[in-house]
Amino acid sequence: MFNKKDIKNIRNDFPILKKKINNHSLIYFDNSSTTQKPKILINKIKYYYYNLNSNIYRSDYYLSKKTTLFIDKCRKVIKNFINASSYKEIIFTKGTTESINLLSICLKKFFKKNDEIIITKLEHNSNYLPWNILCKKKKLKLKILDINNKFNISIKTLKKNLNKKTKLVSITHISNVFGTILPIKKIVNIIKNNNKKTLIILDGAQSIAHIPINVKDLNVDFFVFSAHKIYGPTGLGILYGKKNILKKISPYQYGGSMVKSISKKKNIYKNIPNKFEAGTINICSIYSFLYVINYINKLNINNINIYENKLTNYIKNLLLKNKNIILYGKNNIYSTSIISFNIKNINNFDVGNILNNYGISIRTGLHCSYLLFNYLKLNGTIRLSLGLYNNFDEINKFYFYLLKIINY
Ligand SMILES: Cc1ncc(COP(=O)(O)O)c(C=O)c1O
Repeated sequence: MFNKKDIKNIRNDFPILKKKINNHSLIYFDNSSTTQKPKILINKIKYYYYNLNSNIYRSDYYLSKKTTLFIDKCRKVIKNFINASSYKEIIFTKGTTESINLLSICLKKFFKKNDEIIITKLEHNSNYLPWNILCKKKKLKLKILDINNKFNISIKTLKKNLNKKTKLVSITHISNVFGTILPIKKIVNIIKNNNKKTLIILDGAQSIAHIPINVKDLNVDFFVFSAHKIYGPTGLGILYGKKNILKKISPYQYGGSMVKSISKKKNIYKNIPNKFEAGTINICSIYSFLYVINYINKLNINNINIYENKLTNYIKNLLLKNKNIILYGKNNIYSTSIISFNIKNINNFDVGNILNNYGISIRTGLHCSYLLFNYLKLNGTIRLSLGLYNNFDEINKFYFYLLKIINY
């Protein structure tokens, strides 16, 4: 468990938190969009370009050999962080979005006309559009499951929609709008009981920084996330896939570093993970991300989860005190770190703009979740999303200015 001193130390690790915005200390509540970066990351990026810069998997000289070792070390650290079976199951992409797009392209050959793909109304546009496009191209059916009044998946609806034609289910682990945690183990059991061969992709963009991840235990076939959502650099994504499935899939892009030999008759590609990493990958980000995961491991993801749950409950209880505030998912106990609400008769954009005057960064609008907002018939919400460096003082200040807006 973190105490006050721990949080103070953590806050000191994030230099941007000392910044003033409009003469107010920055209060950063938009961690679902992207998280702030610890000193260790910033220092390692500098170290990399001062000491290590070189291309990987290609050369036998000192720098290249050393850097290559770090890249595979990072795969191993990530493998342990999400409890994969092998570091070869860890593929580097440029983000969650690219990972899902990669899968939508590489899995194409597994589908035939009229096969079905299931997603939910909770999905981020990144977990809707690639499937929408694929279904149109290959004449597949895309089933988009409604959600229940707790902003979670309805098991009954899921069961109703599964059948022999269900080839793939791609779902979010945590809703980026409501913070709802989906009961993935239960969902996976139901899907695999319907058909063992149905593939399951779990979008971990919003879970990776907030709850422990164990892909073996969850028994999903793929797990995707972005490094920037967990205090790492932008432009780096991780695609975990079960080894036996990755081996069966053709590469996504073609170019340097992914091929063993070429000939008129046949190109022979490298094994996983390299066959999915054509060209020069984001070496510096991978190198520096290794240290971010070590940093999170030192703090312990369970401690982070306990602390963030306390902050989440504290905010929810404050918001519930005011009758002008509509808090979404207030009774939802299976949620974490993300709080969505509106204020009666005030546009959510205006609230965001006014809070910005006091140095408070929050997101308003549709949060890249168009399916959800069309379904709910809302023009957006005010969303607070927490990170491990947020504290109770920041929440109190935020609530103080929020009341000012309401009362004005
Ligand atoms: C649930 C979910 N999936 C996918 C994404 C896309 O992530 P990225 O923009 O890093 O590719 C996000 C980003 O907010 C998200 O919240």
